[in-house]
Amino acid sequence: MGTSKNSFWRAKCAAMKWRKRSVAALREHCDEASLQASLPPEWIFRGSLMLLPPKTKLIIATHNQGKLRELQEILLPLQLDVVSAGELGLPEPEETGDSFAANALLKAKAAATASGYVALADDSGLSVDILNGDPGIYSARWAKIDGKTDFAWAAEKIRTAIIDKGENPQGAKARFICALTLYAPQDKILQVEGHVEGTLTFPARGEKGFGYDPIFIADQHKNSGKTFAEITPQEKNALSHRTQAFAKLLQKLNG
Ligand code: IMP
Repeated sequence: MGTSKNSFWRAKCAAMKWRKRSVAALREHCDEASLQASLPPEWIFRGSLMLLPPKTKLIIATHNQGKLRELQEILLPLQLDVVSAGELGLPEPEETGDSFAANALLKAKAAATASGYVALADDSGLSVDILNGDPGIYSARWAKIDGKTDFAWAAEKIRTAIIDKGENPQGAKARFICALTLYAPQDKILQVEGHVEGTLTFPARGEKGFGYDPIFIADQHKNSGKTFAEITPQEKNALSHRTQAFAKLLQKLNG
């Protein structure tokens, strides 16, 4: 596992070095404007070529510690200079979008505009088939009670909503969805979405992870029956919706 991960990143680095060399070679033959016009838009950020090279200052547009931990871990191999909106004390924008992508975009834009850095935002949540996708983009709001966040309460709301539909909550089909937006000032935007399929289990089990993790069993862990809160962070990161979305983001960045 470690070896295949290393070889993945070695291949990625080699591809990035190759691209930098090709761009340098192209530069010898044309001016900056024609060079940029000839490249895919994803390569162009703030009027310059964008490969998220090591040390790029990146703000993670979140105040959620669980998401922050996972995104920091996922981003680690890129060796960026990462800071979070929470650490900078930036206000949380109201999530007025009607989709994960729309909310990720407004969070990324707010953080990039306030900080001047390239921003990465995640909007994510749990989507339950029998509940027509609820809690979905309202996942955080379903857990709010009397101004506090309580995921035991949210899990119970989901369980009773499924029972009200005349269905069995145990084993109900669900998925975690994550929209990621990378945003740089001057409206350079990359958007992707990832998901992980699974089923629900009640009562909640496990102490790891965060949010709805204790009631979600990924299909890949069906045999053990372990929830996202019972597996290790590394096991979760190997298959999570956030990781899937990030892999797509890398693909877009690297052509
Ligand atoms: P938002 O993206 O800030 O709107 O919040 C998403 C909500 O979904 C939060 O309440 C999270 O706890 C929940 N959520 C998102 N990703 C995960 C996850 O990986 N595990 C458990 N809950 C999650």
